[in-house]
Amino acid sequence: MFRLYLIFSLFSYFLISDSLFSEEKLELPAVYLTWDQSPLETITVRWFSDQKDPRDKQILYRLKGTKKWEKLIASTTTFLRSDYFIHNATIHNLYPDTDYEFMVFNSSEIFWFRSLPKDPSKAIRFVVGGDVYRGGQAGPRNTDIELGRQDPMFVVFGGDLVYVKYKLLASKYKLYDLWVSWINSWKELLRTPNGRMFPILAAIGNHDVRGQFKRKPRSAHTFYELFPFPKEHLGYQVLDFGNRLSLFLLDTAHTNPISADQTNWLHKNLSERSEQRHKLAVYHVPAYPSHRSYKGDVSSLIRKSWVPLFDRFGLHTAFEHHDHTLKRTPRLRNNQPHPEGVLYLGDGAWSSGPREVKPAENVWFLEKTKSVRHFWLIELDENKRSFTAINGEGGIEDLVEQNLNH
Ligand SMILES: [Fe+2]
Repeated sequence: MFRLYLIFSLFSYFLISDSLFSEEKLELPAVYLTWDQSPLETITVRWFSDQKDPRDKQILYRLKGTKKWEKLIASTTTFLRSDYFIHNATIHNLYPDTDYEFMVFNSSEIFWFRSLPKDPSKAIRFVVGGDVYRGGQAGPRNTDIELGRQDPMFVVFGGDLVYVKYKLLASKYKLYDLWVSWINSWKELLRTPNGRMFPILAAIGNHDVRGQFKRKPRSAHTFYELFPFPKEHLGYQVLDFGNRLSLFLLDTAHTNPISADQTNWLHKNLSERSEQRHKLAVYHVPAYPSHRSYKGDVSSLIRKSWVPLFDRFGLHTAFEHHDHTLKRTPRLRNNQPHPEGVLYLGDGAWSSGPREVKPAENVWFLEKTKSVRHFWLIELDENKRSFTAINGEGGIEDLVEQNLNH
């Protein structure tokens, strides 16, 4: 009898979880840009469709201002056990700092993007922020709207992309509605005021995973279906922007353990880039939390496993999230202030919270804290790194600059 009950419960669960998708529809074509390789020479166009038509796999692209379209065939997967398909096409051999147009099959809308500059005198300008989407409240929408106004070349989200309540499977609460709602917002969110689309990258957070910590990648299938990694379901990678920037995206124990394979990988890849001009990391749980306990399991493990590698191989800045606050540490090395150490910025308050902060003057590893929604705007050039915390009204909450000649 119990076995029958169990089978019925499982059957109901899958019925419910599939039907949960039906409340809100994707506004097609839902198009976005990302990378899983060489950001200076490639760009990956991803879009959704709802028909199993082979022509759905086509994109057309051209240099902006020219007439001749090039055709590219995408690979296709299903999305969220739904009737939607997600297509993936990577354009190679982009000219630097050049405008391109593209169209996806079944739509007459022409989108455009600008490839990244290779000229080292041109700054790389992008945004990092986390703990992102709870729905359409007024506060969070302000940070969303401010993103495009900052004219970034790309945006990196540091986890907790969407606050789905995985435990609430009642029919009233639609499991994937927030994901769909967030994706629908991208056509405004991921564009500058003049319509330029820019790519999105993401590190994984606990709310992107059913079960939050120590899970298999299949528990985060939405995240992995949206964001490609060079190796399937490996939630960490490094993207090299030529000899200008290496950007590490790491998994703080959500679908990959911190120690062992990921730490070994980090050791190898940081050591191979010790001479890189700018080395930044983005991950979710902070090593130096501004709200939660310093002694937390995951924070302690990051300080034990990754921080010594950051110190040894000269990571410049780590972006941390999860605590829903604004924080800046002094530069740290060997777990103490050091003028040439690693700068830790955080702590993930795009839409969430903001939570109460530890007063900076009471904590040795905090230099500035504030309870305010914000994201970080980063500018990197030959001579300088600058990090500006921007709030939802476009105001500056913090600014730190590092002169590379010092
Ligand atoms: Fe989190």
